[in-house]
Amino acid sequence: MNAIMVEKTRALRGDVLIQGSKNAALPIMAACLLIDGVCTLTNVPQILDVDCMCHLLKLCGCKVERWDHTLTIDTTGLHCCPFPTEEVLQMRSSITLLGPLLSRCGRVEMSYPGGCVLGERPIDYHKSLLEQMGVCFWDTTDGFGASCDRLQGTYLCMPFPSVGATETAILAAVMAEGTTWLYGYAKEPEIKALCAFLRKAGANISEFGDTVLQIEGVNRLHPITWKIPSDRIVAGTYMCALAAVGGKVRLQKAPEKELEALLTKLSRMGVTISKDSLGLVLEHSGRLCGIPFLETGIYPGFPTDLQSTMLVVLTQCKGMSVVKEGIFSNRFHIVKYLKALGACIEQEENMAYVHGPTAFTGIPMKAEELRGGAALVLAALVAEGNSRIENISYIKRGYENLVSDLQGLGGRLWYAS
Ligand code: EPZ
Repeated sequence: MNAIMVEKTRALRGDVLIQGSKNAALPIMAACLLIDGVCTLTNVPQILDVDCMCHLLKLCGCKVERWDHTLTIDTTGLHCCPFPTEEVLQMRSSITLLGPLLSRCGRVEMSYPGGCVLGERPIDYHKSLLEQMGVCFWDTTDGFGASCDRLQGTYLCMPFPSVGATETAILAAVMAEGTTWLYGYAKEPEIKALCAFLRKAGANISEFGDTVLQIEGVNRLHPITWKIPSDRIVAGTYMCALAAVGGKVRLQKAPEKELEALLTKLSRMGVTISKDSLGLVLEHSGRLCGIPFLETGIYPGFPTDLQSTMLVVLTQCKGMSVVKEGIFSNRFHIVKYLKALGACIEQEENMAYVHGPTAFTGIPMKAEELRGGAALVLAALVAEGNSRIENISYIKRGYENLVSDLQGLGGRLWYAS
């Protein structure tokens, strides 16, 4: 099934259970490489990026077993290997293998990582941090090689709180010789999850105020069992679906605190938000109000990963809304489709000006990246008639059950070939 058909949906009603977090699971899977023995991860989402990471781990000698949402990673047979380009290109998270492999094997060869095309996504911060820890890099025909003797702890100052580069530095530092001080690091919940996992396995990581992480290298980490936390972006996607379509939805296991930036905006726009013993309840009927200005930013700012889904919501709101993309240089791929559906949006560089509300009429569309793909599904739910969305493997990279979860809420959509 490589397409999703969607019909206009009048309201979403019911409960939805939030899956485990992709962006927490992937670096934690990479972190398992640091641990000699068998780690067990639970609540791991069944998504294509996790399949891809399992494959990469197997290529470097790990035994990976999966049943339902549980994963065991046995690193007993770990060895250094050049990774095939095709696999590495499938996702950005391939780069999280760099720190652990340098730590355990002292050498890595891979191509530059792929992932969603959201503008420039260099790895210069990753390289510079590792160089400061004693790593040498060289170019290969289709990527780069890196090697080191034992990684050396040092003072590291991040030019920007990049999520991936923070993960690389942490993963390199936990078993390095001596102490690493990491200034200006990213504070996204997925970083907190990675640190919590590593601490339980024996890593020595402390936070000082809000500015510096101190990581004292240890010689050994021990195997543990760990539960992957809920996915804040999937929860946010369903909140945006409710805001776009209307109705009443209860999100079970939604990480409420991590979604404060979105919940504050939705509440100002007119969505009623409450809590009961089973989860977070969002409700609205009628028209929401637009928001004068929304800018995506580093945590706890508004997540860039929810910019596309929020853009869809704003097309259905009264008045003009302005959206500024503050993280990536090219994350407005869906604007052309929203306009073709009927939206009134002007976009210039990293700004979008939305005049709403506008009625949508269904059209054929193609997902071009993960979160934008999910946003197209939301846009199709508010469009009269049928929409067909192709290239849905992008969506399956991060959403375990987008179609069945929305169906469970009364959404009129289904897989098609
Ligand atoms: C992570 O990507 C997430 N991916 C992204 O989610 C998320 O959008 C992003 O963080 C921001 O929150 C994963 O966790 C797997 P960054 P990452 O390094 O680590 C620039 C999703 O849909 N930069 O914080 O790649 C970069 O170009 C994905 O789930 C450099 O210039 O993001 C960007 O403008 C999409 N040089 C900015 O920093 C570098 O070496 C932030 O990127 C690294 C980054």
